[in-house]
Amino acid sequence: MAKNKIIIANWKMKLTLAESLEKAKKFKEKFKGFSRGEVVVCPPFIVLDEIGRLFKKTGLKLGAQDVFFEESGAYTGEISPKMLLEAGCQYVIIGHSERRRFLLENYAMIHQKVKEVLNIVGLTPIVCIGEESEERKTDKRDFVLVDQLQQALGGINIMENQQVVVAYEPVWAIGSGLAIEPSEAEYAHKIIGLALNDMFGLGVVNKNFRIVYGGSVTSKNVKSFADLENIDGLLVGGASLDPEEFYKIAKGILR
Ligand code: 13P
Repeated sequence: MAKNKIIIANWKMKLTLAESLEKAKKFKEKFKGFSRGEVVVCPPFIVLDEIGRLFKKTGLKLGAQDVFFEESGAYTGEISPKMLLEAGCQYVIIGHSERRRFLLENYAMIHQKVKEVLNIVGLTPIVCIGEESEERKTDKRDFVLVDQLQQALGGINIMENQQVVVAYEPVWAIGSGLAIEPSEAEYAHKIIGLALNDMFGLGVVNKNFRIVYGGSVTSKNVKSFADLENIDGLLVGGASLDPEEFYKIAKGILR
């Protein structure tokens, strides 16, 4: 059964507040009447609430770029899953490689974040995995991907009404302009799918999981991903900052 495809814009920390709001308005205009698949925009925390209000009654969905791994408490500076829901988020990126690199986030934290997010009805985690360049060169990719999945999701019981998006983002392809070859993406997605089948069973994977690709996606290479059967969508960084370019990518993948 074909899954409802999804495209996710990750704006990272690349815009000011004013620019974020301006961009969100442009997205709203551009995607007016667009009804294919799901389109999710992930702006910085500080503008989520306002953009959430702007996107109300549009087809655009809101996502956050991170979340904390506890429900509430004395955690200065952190944002809970419930707050994200209140701000209008339906998605949240968890364990992006930039957070693993610059904030030393590890898979124990990522696991806990996924659990807390799944506790909130209406909020779906986008769990990032992906090998480093060195791991790819030394043939460790398959092991790394399965290991990351097990650490992030192992032992979690996925209920009927819960959804999980796994984002395969090879670290060497992020922001490098070096998108993966379609055949390599297809292979990695197959490994991820098989590992998920082992962990959760085929029925749950078919119904509750989507696997998306991220890393240097543009309107020029989107077609090569759209043609692959086991790619359920895309996570786009740099190219999502240009509404026209992102719209082209969305049209390319959500057919
Ligand atoms: P780029 O599309 O800029 O390579 O970034 C990908 C990414 O990190 C999305 O989360």
